[in-house]
Amino acid sequence: MKKKITFLLNSETRSIEVESGDILLDVLRDKLGIKTPKIGCDMGDCGSCTVMLDGKTVKSCLVLALEVEGQEVTTLEGLMKDGMTPLQQTFHDFNSFQCGFCTPGMVLSATELINKNPKPNRKEIQEALSGNLCRCTGYIPIIEAVEDLIGKGKGEGKEKG
Ligand code: FES
Ligand code: FES
Repeated sequence: MKKKITFLLNSETRSIEVESGDILLDVLRDKLGIKTPKIGCDMGDCGSCTVMLDGKTVKSCLVLALEVEGQEVTTLEGLMKDGMTPLQQTFHDFNSFQCGFCTPGMVLSATELINKNPKPNRKEIQEALSGNLCRCTGYIPIIEAVEDLIGKGKGEGKEKG
């Protein structure tokens, strides 16, 4: 049965009809043109579908679209209204991605961490990113990029080019 939901998507109010079993990830990608959340495992294991729901990261493949009624959904598109975010720039500078499939989820999980804890230590960064799998980088460049952004990295203060 179809039901209309209204929610904030990247700071804009959106209303859309969904079926009771529709999954948020599919609605974002197929009905709303939001492509940064990726379809990976589709069962809550890989984190490639990560979005923020009222500022907290969730795996959108596990969320029913009906559940976001009245809430705020933020995807990487919402953080990029003025171009690349500082964290994305640092990922770029540290070669923290290869295929890029995991990157939107990594950036959102790291953003959530830094919002809560502006100076996390390495263990806290590893824990915050533990729900986001990367098949390419071995994780070290990702962690070093986050450390650099918060001023704890080896590259702090170095010229970036
Ligand atoms: S696609 Fe959602 S966790 Fe893998
Ligand atoms: S950069 Fe390819 S999966 Fe992470």
